[in-house]
Amino acid sequence: MPKHIYINKKISPYNKTIQVSSDKSLSIRTVLLASQAVGISKISNLLESEDVLNTLKTIKKLGINYKKKKNCYEIYGFGLNGFNPKNNTVINAGNSGTLGRLILSLLIKTDKNIKLIGDKSLSKRDFSRVVKPLKLFGANIKLKKNYLPVKIQGTEFLRPINYVEHIGSAQIKTACCFAALNAPGTTFIRARKSRNHTELLFKYLKIPIKVKSNKKFDLIKVKGLHQYNAFNYSIPGDISSSAFFIVLTLLSKNSEITIRNVNVNESRIGLIKILKMMNCKITFKNKRIYKGEKTADIFVKSSKILKPINCPSSLNSSAIDEFLLIFLIAGAKTKGISTFKALGELNKKESPRLDIAIKFLRMIGIKVVRNIDDIKIYGKPKIDLKRNYHVKNFFKDHRIFMMSCIAALTLGGNWKINDKDSINTSFPKFLNILKNLGANIN
Ligand code: S3P
Repeated sequence: MPKHIYINKKISPYNKTIQVSSDKSLSIRTVLLASQAVGISKISNLLESEDVLNTLKTIKKLGINYKKKKNCYEIYGFGLNGFNPKNNTVINAGNSGTLGRLILSLLIKTDKNIKLIGDKSLSKRDFSRVVKPLKLFGANIKLKKNYLPVKIQGTEFLRPINYVEHIGSAQIKTACCFAALNAPGTTFIRARKSRNHTELLFKYLKIPIKVKSNKKFDLIKVKGLHQYNAFNYSIPGDISSSAFFIVLTLLSKNSEITIRNVNVNESRIGLIKILKMMNCKITFKNKRIYKGEKTADIFVKSSKILKPINCPSSLNSSAIDEFLLIFLIAGAKTKGISTFKALGELNKKESPRLDIAIKFLRMIGIKVVRNIDDIKIYGKPKIDLKRNYHVKNFFKDHRIFMMSCIAALTLGGNWKINDKDSINTSFPKFLNILKNLGANIN
């Protein structure tokens, strides 16, 4: 089977309703929290992508059983620190930064030696950002030069911590909250704003958590050693996966799309806020609250030329996985210069996304000026590509692959895009949905 695809034709106008894959952040968090609950949790519409399947494999290796019944995963939890691994167990987080960082935080009380490994991309990502706070709780952790493999052995003698999370990383914040579950007393976290699914899940599960918010930071208190009961949860659609279809529609001619039942938590909709600042019309319909999380159907139409943006860096965290698409809109749909600041975190994702995005935009003839982690994009709204383009060497980053497909289907040219299997980490149905919308992909 070839590992690349060809796109030589723009997508024809469409008017359709779709459903994207379930949210990855909620899928990983609910599986991990179910593994620490007392009793049988039932999670339906779980995202069945490699990152989540690796989460299930990981809890199994640590002694927690699960069964799939129809559309529902039953997870048999034994309560806090209910893992029962063999000594020297090796767990593999594959490509998933979220799984790798969060699982460590649930192992700070285990009496066995556990080694965490990951794939080539994950082995290049910084783990010191979670190891640092987890060591403060008292766990014994070894890592070489900030990278995997990490060796962890927990301790019974844990203490709560007082920690400042200054990057705006939900993974670090969640690792502190998860670790706090096993620590006696109250852990305080002052966290720069980031997605708050963990806090909402804790509230829903009646885990003692208090959150006070100011403009930039959340002050979070978690009281440890509180057993919580098993739960039922149905995972809504992923806004980060929806983003590809929102942008496809904005860049296409005479098209409309409705994306049903998507999680539109405030801390995740930076893309929508940024696009609205650029004058896009996007509407949420059928707004609901599900277990503390906002959901809605998203409606988008093809758009005329948009306004460039001076993007406030306060939106960076809530659009962190969507910047490749935002850059594409700024480059191919606006007239004028857009600026984006403080995007260094993008280079710490599955691939150095900021570097790769700049190369990509320049490859399709869009001018980009870079000053360390700030960039200026010179919009070219009538862009009509004619040449051959080959997208390669992107460390099999799923989001680079999918963004390239959207560019290829809307801007013209003949494209060869490598590593189609990359979508399996987050959105295995991506190419099928595109084909159902009428895309010609070989
Ligand atoms: C995630 C948080 C973000 C995001 C990642 C998923 C999460 O990472 O990029 O895809 O589920 O907590 P950071 O928290 O490191 O920014």
